[in-house]
Amino acid sequence: VNLVVKASGGNSSSPLMYGLMHEDISNGGDGGIYAELIYNRAFQGSEEFPSSLNGWIPVNGVALSLEKLATPLSKALPYSMNVAAAGSSPGKVGFANTGYWGMDVKVQTYTGSFYVKGSYEGSFTASLQSNLTGETFGSVDVVSQSVAGEWTQHNFTLVPEKAAPNSNNTFAVTFDPAGVKDASLDFNLISLFPPTYKNRPNGLRPDIMEAFAELNPKFLRLPGGNMLEGNTQTTWWKWNETIGPLKDRPGMPNVWGYQITYGMGLVEYMEWCEDLGLEPIVAVWDGLSLDGNFTTQAELGEWIQFALDEIEFLTGDAATTKWGAVRASVGHPQPWSVKYVEIGNEDWLAGAPAAYEAYKQYRLPMFIDAFTQRYPDIQLISSSSVFDNITIPEPAAGDYHSYVEPDTFVAAFGMFDQLTAGNKTLIGEYAAVHPNGGIGWNGDLMPFPWWEGAIGEAVFLLGAERNGDRIIGTTYAPSLRNMNRWQWSVTLLQFAADPALTTRSTSWYMLRLFGNHIISKTLPVTSDTGFGPLYYVAGTSAKGTGIFKAAVYNTTEDVQVSLKFKGYSKGATATLTVLTGPENPYGYNDPLSHVNVVTETTSTVTAGADGSFRFSLPQLSVAVLETDGA
Ligand code: AHR
Repeated sequence: VNLVVKASGGNSSSPLMYGLMHEDISNGGDGGIYAELIYNRAFQGSEEFPSSLNGWIPVNGVALSLEKLATPLSKALPYSMNVAAAGSSPGKVGFANTGYWGMDVKVQTYTGSFYVKGSYEGSFTASLQSNLTGETFGSVDVVSQSVAGEWTQHNFTLVPEKAAPNSNNTFAVTFDPAGVKDASLDFNLISLFPPTYKNRPNGLRPDIMEAFAELNPKFLRLPGGNMLEGNTQTTWWKWNETIGPLKDRPGMPNVWGYQITYGMGLVEYMEWCEDLGLEPIVAVWDGLSLDGNFTTQAELGEWIQFALDEIEFLTGDAATTKWGAVRASVGHPQPWSVKYVEIGNEDWLAGAPAAYEAYKQYRLPMFIDAFTQRYPDIQLISSSSVFDNITIPEPAAGDYHSYVEPDTFVAAFGMFDQLTAGNKTLIGEYAAVHPNGGIGWNGDLMPFPWWEGAIGEAVFLLGAERNGDRIIGTTYAPSLRNMNRWQWSVTLLQFAADPALTTRSTSWYMLRLFGNHIISKTLPVTSDTGFGPLYYVAGTSAKGTGIFKAAVYNTTEDVQVSLKFKGYSKGATATLTVLTGPENPYGYNDPLSHVNVVTETTSTVTAGADGSFRFSLPQLSVAVLETDGA
């Protein structure tokens, strides 16, 4: 294939081309990126997932019971755990927690806290130990402040003397029953954090954040996804309940089959953006729940105001706005910047056609009107795109989601060429999820992202990037999956309690390559043949280097490429990075075997007499060539 990249023409490209999307699915939030180690720390529950003592084990035969006290810790956390000290066997008693399928114990500083109600004279012992052998890796004594009739918080730090050999460990709090005055003590909000990314209190898991940072992402679409919508008109992600002290966050019955704590709330999402330099794309609830019900036109005003308040909370001045002041009161006096707001999630799906009709008729237009008046500089995004049978009122953009087979992604290479300047589109979720010739959504998803799938995605992304003036950005979804409990297999990163198991998928490797070579302006390419089996985009970076990104799909022979950037002459050099996969196109990165099936080869290519770079690319490969200068 002979390609010539012109020196001018083309489009500016979105600075947000590669980003992230997150919601709590497959315990990607609680028990995932949110670094809290204690499972069911505050006995939160709902009608769908009633409060329980799941995760809690009595120490030394003591009786534990779930109580709804007349004086709870807070309105948001009405349940607590009673530990009946009277009549217990000699020695310290208390409780242990299993964590989210274990706990990683290293010689590092753990930060903990628990609330107690009841009169106790003495010390509590907080400890980390093996669930298999009982060996204690570290403990600390916490002098009791506890008094009758009141909840008192106890804070501590704990540095184990020894690292545990595996993650099958528990955290325990014990105390001397002889010091308990009134037969029992009540406990709530028992929390333990390892060191977090950038040492944020109530922060995120460093290994997972590092895996995201390596992708060089530019935005975060939050907080979903189906999680935002909720299952019913009353059980959806209410941003105002996710902020402030943890004791005031009630949590919600997540749509993915488990209760979530709201420990990872709106502020934590924004801190994530801050820490990785990401542009937030904040999705606001627009009246649709997954049961297909939606808010009537008469009632929608309340939720539009709720969404406007959310943006005021994020961006309002602390001194002059109500919600800006609330943000300051929870530790963030400086406003954040929000340039993108998405209205709902997948309104074309749940409850269609009635709910979608209502979205087109009044829900989307009402949100657009209100937001345009109040926040004229924010780019609004409809939760459906022009590919979903809608005419999106200006000035909103669309959001396109695609979970398909690799062949379908390849066939979609040219679809974004149809976008007009008025139809800007976010690709807010995509992933290859079924093998070619599969049976679609009636069949099982693949067990993990796999190599052929990653190449199909790459072709699709190249098609998007060619239209980078109309594509706002792209993000794979879902992003995180705890291997101990998941609802969706094909996920960007797999992990468990032990950070050593955090596994970058085949798609992650493809995305790292594309995301670390940023085209700021695309350039027209002429070719002596059409697209396929070689798919590509070319352009220049902000620093003026030439960038060529390509994927090879569906060939029996290696593709010989001759690539000329206009203006380059003999001797010019470039770095070529090629990713290839396993012989078996269904190969994937399995967190259990921990073998990376993706091979990366980097070489220096020198332009020949005519100024062209020559190289060959095999079947199912992705490649980036970046010139060393202009
Ligand atoms: O990414 C998983 C789910 O797929 C998202 O929650 C939803 O938006 C989509 O249907």
